[in-house]
Amino acid sequence: MITARAHTNIAFLKYWGKKDVKLILPYNDSISLTLDRFYTDTSVDFDQSLDHDEIFVDEKPLTGSGVKRVKNVLDLVRHLSGISNFAKVQSTNHVPSTAGLASSASAFAALAAASTKAAGLNLSNRQLSIIARHGSGSASRSIFGGFVQWHAGHDDQSSYAEPIQENVDWDINLITVLINTAQKKVSSTNGMQSVVETSPFYPAWVKNAQADVKPMKTAILNQNLATLGELAEQSAMRMHATTFGAVPSFTYFQPQTLAILSAVRNMRKQGVECYSTVDAGPNVKIICASSDNEFIMHELNQIVSAKQLVVCKPGPGITYL
Ligand code: PMV
Repeated sequence: MITARAHTNIAFLKYWGKKDVKLILPYNDSISLTLDRFYTDTSVDFDQSLDHDEIFVDEKPLTGSGVKRVKNVLDLVRHLSGISNFAKVQSTNHVPSTAGLASSASAFAALAAASTKAAGLNLSNRQLSIIARHGSGSASRSIFGGFVQWHAGHDDQSSYAEPIQENVDWDINLITVLINTAQKKVSSTNGMQSVVETSPFYPAWVKNAQADVKPMKTAILNQNLATLGELAEQSAMRMHATTFGAVPSFTYFQPQTLAILSAVRNMRKQGVECYSTVDAGPNVKIICASSDNEFIMHELNQIVSAKQLVVCKPGPGITYL
């Protein structure tokens, strides 16, 4: 039995839409930061006594659409290794139970790492990224620590993530604002598919997202928080704009999401370098230097309680336990 740990990541340049739904090939490159606070530990054992795959998440049998995605990854690993045994998979999410943050990125990255090693394969991180991508697109990036780019690619082997800066040795962190931790109504899978098919804003999204890749990489390498933050906030706002244009239209924003976005803009007017990003849910993540955390959290306390704020720093890539 092999156990692997992977940390979750937050995209600064979003992945939003698949050009190949089966292979999970995105329309545009994306860029993320792996976080230290939230991670998943996954153990895999290919056991010849099993007559089906047994999948447990936080000690409960997995149900719903996740089962098929886990089996996709296991089938791929069986195909690559020539093993035919079924697997026992036990996954534990170390995300505060109230966080309401996506754990699919860390979960599928940990699954790719643990299952391949358990099957006797010794693959490069690039290959692991490709395998993780088959479970969830954002998981391709969680194989690596720090700032990571997922190359959209054009087929299975050309769509993988790689590090831009694994050891982030400059002052950047994320304040996560937990607004609503309930299961989201529109999953990221359904949300992105809906905008690809129906939103007239989608082609503009793809064009602008791809154009932002180079300037964002440059901002990371130059440790330029202001440019990085501005590009990240724009990416998030443009992604959410596509949802308003969808038919039927939808939004992940809730009233408190808008209140936080506005508070961040106001702090910026006061000269504080802070920027918002929002994924397929209502929670806001604020990108800033840790030296400004205290001021920002004090301001946010007027809208949300202290326990709704979690500070995350850059985190590492996959490890084996
Ligand atoms: O890979 P998924 O299905 O978890 O989709 C992730 C989509 C976003 O979180 C909204 C953006 C991203 O790049 O992580």
